[in-house]
Amino acid sequence: MNATDRIRFELDGRDIDAAPGESILQAAQRAGADIPHLCYTDGLRADGNCRACVVEIDGERVLAPSCCRAPKPGMKVKAASERARASQRMVLELLHADVPAEVEKADSELAHWCEALGVVEPRFAPRANPVPERSHPGIAVDLAACIQCTRCLRACREVQVNDVIGLARRGADTSIVFDFDVPMGDSSCVGCGECVQACPTGALQPAALLEATAAPASSYRPTRQVDSLCPYCGV
Ligand code: FES
Repeated sequence: MNATDRIRFELDGRDIDAAPGESILQAAQRAGADIPHLCYTDGLRADGNCRACVVEIDGERVLAPSCCRAPKPGMKVKAASERARASQRMVLELLHADVPAEVEKADSELAHWCEALGVVEPRFAPRANPVPERSHPGIAVDLAACIQCTRCLRACREVQVNDVIGLARRGADTSIVFDFDVPMGDSSCVGCGECVQACPTGALQPAALLEATAAPASSYRPTRQVDSLCPYCGV
């Protein structure tokens, strides 16, 4: 980074430099600082929808999502203050409350951030759990674990340019859908696995991983074979 280009700002009392175009979160990551984040991941555009990455910015009343906020020279940012941490924890706890234990991957990003911030036992009841869907031969869908971060959608649309996954309905009923809300196995998904890679909770997983705990046989419908080079699902 060119010295004249860098944007120097303060993060939790430490001076760090951001490159032009970088967000607070990206600069923090490069400097080795941990700010929880779920809907943001390297290689996908920031969407700012999960709010796990909120930080305090001096002079601003409202917490800001660090994944889609550009730092300014001299800005003072607090990611580890009591207020910022309390908000980050609350977001993680609410998201975690919905994820059934049998679906959540122990090594998921959600599990990682919950552990890192000491979110152990959610105090909230889960919402009604959608039925697991096993229509796709290579990818298991558990929308109960979906936090609508849209990483799968962006990976499908922006990385693979397939555009199979979208968001449907509104408010608390919002969910990801495949094509025009058909079972994933009946959609135009080619089983590339990009969405599985992007998912931070385990809502989309390689079906092979879940074989032992698969849904009842009646709902397992490997209806057709699709072309894929995916190294994970082996279709
Ligand atoms: Fe910033 Fe989700 S990671 S809002």
